Amino acid sequence: MIFVNFKTYRQSTGKWALVLADQIKRASDATKVAIIPVVQVSDIREIKDSIGLEVWAQKIDPVSFGAHTGAVLAESVKEDGASGVFLNHSEARFESDSDLEKAVLRAKEVGLKTLVFAGSIEDLEKFASFYPDFVAYEPPELIGNKETSVARAKPEIISQAVSLLKKFRIPLIVGAGISDVLDVKKSLELGAVGVAVASSVVLADNPFEKLKELAGGFY
Ligand code: G3P
Repeated sequence: MIFVNFKTYRQSTGKWALVLADQIKRASDATKVAIIPVVQVSDIREIKDSIGLEVWAQKIDPVSFGAHTGAVLAESVKEDGASGVFLNHSEARFESDSDLEKAVLRAKEVGLKTLVFAGSIEDLEKFASFYPDFVAYEPPELIGNKETSVARAKPEIISQAVSLLKKFRIPLIVGAGISDVLDVKKSLELGAVGVAVASSVVLADNPFEKLKELAGGFY
């Protein structure tokens, strides 16, 4: 599976989010590889309704109904049509581990799948104990890197992460700098079940073609 993190790039916001989601749908249909757009909360419903694709949210907050101005409620993203949510991305970290744990619980309460990001083996082990559906290893310093990727620069940590997650029975996703088919192949060979990508797809001249190339790593 490939998660495409839309972040807040101009190319993946508002009407452009719809254009990108349509290319994801076509690439996923053509390759039969699950490709999941992870979008801004304001774009969830439109993408879900018009493209009919599984959509995830980029975050929720660890709160329930009540007085929490500006917070993103698990219930709202679920109602808008999201199937899952990213939690603790290095660009959207929780203030504390207990907030992260609360957010995982909130997501589970409303039936959202969860993917929790960790930037180190220590965090990965800690966060696995919250039992999200996926854990992603993403070293923040390699995000957006055009020269190397997590698969090329940190293979031994990926292998370590896979064996650590085995005892929790949680699949590993890897991300940061993934930009070509070799990155994907290598990640899977090391034991990850999928990748999280952003810049190489969102900023590509032709995201559809780039996704088809990345999906080739699964064959
Ligand atoms: O969530 C995935 C993302 O942070 C990776 O970013 O630009 O290195 O593919 P990028």
